Amino acid sequence: MRDSSHRFRLVAAGVILLLVAAAAWAEDGHRLWLRYDPVEALLRQQYKRTASEIVVDARGASATVVEAELERGLSALLAGEIPFRPQVDRDGAVLLALANDPKLQSLHLATGDLGREGFLLRSARFHGHSATLIVANSNNGLLYGVFALLRRVQMREPVDQLNLRSAPAYPLRMLDHWDNLDGSVERGYTGRSIWNWGSLPKIDQRYVDYARANASIGINAAVLNNVNADPKVLTPEYLQKAAALADTFRPYGIRVFLSVRFSSPIEIGGLKTADPLDPAVAAWWRHKTDEIYRLIPDFGGFLVKANSEGQPGPQDYHRTHADGANVIADALRPHGGTVLWRAFVYGNSAEDRAKQAYDEFHPLDGKFRDNVILQVKNGPIDFQPREPFHPLFGQMLRTRVALEAQITREYVGQNTGVAYLAPMWTEVLDADTCSPSCGTAVSATLSAMAGVSNVGSDRDWTGTNFDQANWYAFGRLAWNPRLSAQQIASEWTRLTWSNDPRAVKPIVSMMMESRKAVVNFMTPLGLAHQMATDYHYGPAPWVCDLKQPSWNPCYYNRADANGIGFDRTKSGSDAVAQYAPPVGARFANLAAVPDKYLLWFHHLPWTYRMRSGRTLWDELVGHYDAGVAEAAGMSRTWVSARPYVDAERWGAVASDLSRELGEARWWRDASIAYFQSLSKLPLPAGSPAPAHPLSYYEAIRPPNLPGQRR
Ligand code: GCU
Repeated sequence: MRDSSHRFRLVAAGVILLLVAAAAWAEDGHRLWLRYDPVEALLRQQYKRTASEIVVDARGASATVVEAELERGLSALLAGEIPFRPQVDRDGAVLLALANDPKLQSLHLATGDLGREGFLLRSARFHGHSATLIVANSNNGLLYGVFALLRRVQMREPVDQLNLRSAPAYPLRMLDHWDNLDGSVERGYTGRSIWNWGSLPKIDQRYVDYARANASIGINAAVLNNVNADPKVLTPEYLQKAAALADTFRPYGIRVFLSVRFSSPIEIGGLKTADPLDPAVAAWWRHKTDEIYRLIPDFGGFLVKANSEGQPGPQDYHRTHADGANVIADALRPHGGTVLWRAFVYGNSAEDRAKQAYDEFHPLDGKFRDNVILQVKNGPIDFQPREPFHPLFGQMLRTRVALEAQITREYVGQNTGVAYLAPMWTEVLDADTCSPSCGTAVSATLSAMAGVSNVGSDRDWTGTNFDQANWYAFGRLAWNPRLSAQQIASEWTRLTWSNDPRAVKPIVSMMMESRKAVVNFMTPLGLAHQMATDYHYGPAPWVCDLKQPSWNPCYYNRADANGIGFDRTKSGSDAVAQYAPPVGARFANLAAVPDKYLLWFHHLPWTYRMRSGRTLWDELVGHYDAGVAEAAGMSRTWVSARPYVDAERWGAVASDLSRELGEARWWRDASIAYFQSLSKLPLPAGSPAPAHPLSYYEAIRPPNLPGQRR
């Protein structure tokens, strides 16, 4: 009796242990790309020869973080503790040192061009021993170097002949959180806000993990709150909370910024006006800013959305955007802070919405203080699945400009399916602005990159496994905009899923296909903004009857019985004239404009003959069909990766993809049903008829769609 109950207790304890272990190792995506799973035994022996001890010649709180990461990474990857030693005393040392360390002088390392954040990874002889040197001009640079070294080991790349130097392209690489103080997130699809404003300034481990994840991809700034800002964020209570986050992020090289409401001097300052030229307003901004710097000495600055979508701004007082930005910039200047002033503006005017930002900002070039950065969305409308680059890029020759990308997938399926966005961003970064001369890529005209964050309270951070890739890709591109989308996909896959080429190949090909699929089944051939108004989810090309004309899908498609597309040439809105002449001429010319931007710039008859020889109608339907076929192809590709990835994450992605296929069909069918009701043309041979009549799709438009999560 005693024996069997003892056995029972042992078995029960064993089961509990197993369950605890399983929970600890649950493949729920929480570990992101920083998994640090042990390297295979044989290879591990080789790596161990280059990681016999760790020697740290750096000081300060951030040096502790650097050491901790190196130790954590190497000992996990190599499945054994790596000892710390005061100096290099054996082969295989990993030496972390600041560039001005006298011990390094004999090596004559060129470190000047690394700047404050760059790093050097070098295999060298040091004190008679083989060593791996990680050298930088700051502890932050060292941390980036550590992550780069660990990434190589994670990807099973050799580390014994290193000679690598890397420095970020832009000094500011930021995440913009659209998080509200009540815990909700504008355009967030990943649970609630990651910031628990109620319990802050108490620090949650998740904030530390967040900072570490950002540092691992080079992000060095975070705007904590929504651009549609609550003035309360500048009250002492919330500043204390922001300061606690800033203290947590500091060792990871991340500076905190806040979004501010332009009318804050009235709302929390008790003034009667927010007129930027009123001395009392200028004094208010100065005092508020001084107060912030007393709490957060390395505070980054303010992000401002003004005179846009109902937000207050300097135009309320007949002042310019430059007047508005400069009064805040003057308050920040003594502290080294920056104003990010958003260029996303449009009113309810008859003017083409795509033209409004350029019209307002181009005349102000040269009028902004040098601590102002104009933050411009990648395209002229609003984060559509595809847009040509914004005409302000390259053309604000006397103003610093940041590119704002949206990592959260507001218009690109939200939390459905897989849409890897790096191809969208590189398409813009690589675009030739021809300003001041041809051969000037958008990436070469920037001072900063900002990404609207997709991080939330969900355990996997981003709501789906593949949305992590967009966070990762944004950081990597902000560090080095010359990386290709494919290269980043391959890196991320190897870090996140597997190094087995049988997994890497299909996953990368699926990722590279995914954005193409979304464009094809949502907005092919340069169409834009065909989503349901407000929700920005699901097809609604027929919606036309709202008060705000430039929020209507029909405003963008301009479809009628004769044709489709937005004429932005001289005979239409002439938006092409906002680009540098060679670019504008190319977009205006039907023989030269790429098909992908055709209906963005041209209104054409349904029977227009395309380069392919097919009519525009047949080609359009062909693109919707291709989108559905590509979505189906992604599901098949994912099946082929199944044996090489864990069952838990595989299953989650499989169900994401099957939802996406359903939505691809919905988009395709609804769009075709609507456009066919106008064109009255037959479907091309082989293209199936929509499964339902148009009235059905009109009736199920969001938010009534069954199964829609948000
Ligand atoms: C889009 C989005 C809004 C957001 C705005 C902005 O219009 O739908 O939620 O506030 O962009 O970028 O300011």
